[in-house]
Amino acid sequence: MQFSRADFGNEFHWGVSTAAYQVEGAHLADGKGLSIWDNFVQKPGKIYQQQHANTACDFYNRYKEDTLLIKELNIPNHRFSISWSRIIPEGTGRVSRKGIDFYNRLIDYTLACGVEPWITLYHWDLPQALQDEGGWTNRRVVEWFLNYVSICIQNFGDRVKHWIILNEPMVFTGAGYFLGVHAPGKKGLRNFLAAVHHAALCQAEGGRLIRQLLPGATIGTTISCSHIEPYRKIDKDVLAANKVDTLLNRLFIEPLLGMGYPVNDLPVLKRIDNFMKPGDDERLAFDMDFIGIQNYTRELVRHSYLTPFVQAKIIQANKRKVKATVMNWEVFPEAIYEVLKKYSAYPNIPKLIITENGAAFPDEVVDGNIADGERVQYLNDHIKQVLRAKNEGVNVGGYFVWTLLDNFEWAEGYYPTFGLVHVNHNTQERILKDSGLWYQAFLRRGHTLK
Ligand code: NOJ
Repeated sequence: MQFSRADFGNEFHWGVSTAAYQVEGAHLADGKGLSIWDNFVQKPGKIYQQQHANTACDFYNRYKEDTLLIKELNIPNHRFSISWSRIIPEGTGRVSRKGIDFYNRLIDYTLACGVEPWITLYHWDLPQALQDEGGWTNRRVVEWFLNYVSICIQNFGDRVKHWIILNEPMVFTGAGYFLGVHAPGKKGLRNFLAAVHHAALCQAEGGRLIRQLLPGATIGTTISCSHIEPYRKIDKDVLAANKVDTLLNRLFIEPLLGMGYPVNDLPVLKRIDNFMKPGDDERLAFDMDFIGIQNYTRELVRHSYLTPFVQAKIIQANKRKVKATVMNWEVFPEAIYEVLKKYSAYPNIPKLIITENGAAFPDEVVDGNIADGERVQYLNDHIKQVLRAKNEGVNVGGYFVWTLLDNFEWAEGYYPTFGLVHVNHNTQERILKDSGLWYQAFLRRGHTLK
């Protein structure tokens, strides 16, 4: 099948996504407050080789060069996030003029390059001062978050039309407050469920506040979605897969759509009642303009007595001997089609936008070039599956590659490289990969792919 950009129509949003902590660096510059990630990276044994993002890609100082690259690649939309503690160092109270100025410069330069900014309000870097008060487990986070949102809208709402409330709440609550493998490194069901409920409240209340303050804005939030299948076609595995699907894919979308938490398929979620207050059921719902779908792979799930609460475990790609990325995520392009179909089947679901998709493969610089054919193939095959879903009537309105630059991949540090652009972290030199050139060509109108 041949396809080109034109097959997606003129309204389709093509883009690239980044996140503040992963690229900006300058973690103490101009009065920035510390975030939970600035703190977490200092704890021994948490991050691969004790790496950190104090400098990262130095995007704070190189945003012009990098935005010019986006323009050169013909990418019309850049989704980036705001570092909360850069603009409100203690998370609440005093606003940093210098922090606001940085994002003003970034937004203005982005627009001057003809690139549309899409702002993610929360991409995991909570101000440490708020974590000292319990962070996402403290219900006051709703009030702190709404104050932060209003500061962003007041300062940037005159120029920014597209707003994304949360990035992958299931990941930052699960990895950060249940497993303890991401910041702030908290564990346990109680922390997790409290964080989930407060994040779900912020997701909806944040949307409501933006709609009120900026009626013309396009508002969305993102959800991490993996296509889930049972490992074997036996009842025990089917049940296990259903539980994992409930936890990973349904926990945040269903309350947002007014369906409440999916407690029937995962009874342990009933304990979230401990954190509910009267009126919360209604507050959890909001009619977003779009839902950001972030998909990378599929997961195969089998029954396991040993895993608490879900009695299920994921069979890693290397155990199944399938093609996988450096993250050990199976390369399975149909997954993006399957998740688009799944989410589009919800009643009253708004438009879907792929706000992240991409892959980490081992890149090698040879004579100043990076021939990352596997990434080209990955992107090509996933975009084709998006088109397949669209042609079957799924209301999908955009696709953003994760990501522009090789950057700090959280607990994995710098070894998984997802960028369209290679970054030498010793010199900060950027080299366009073949995948960047490929995306550039694809986005040039009239260019056809197979
Ligand atoms: C999810 C996250 O939003 C992003 O921060 C991360 O780097 C990518 N996916 C890849 O794991």
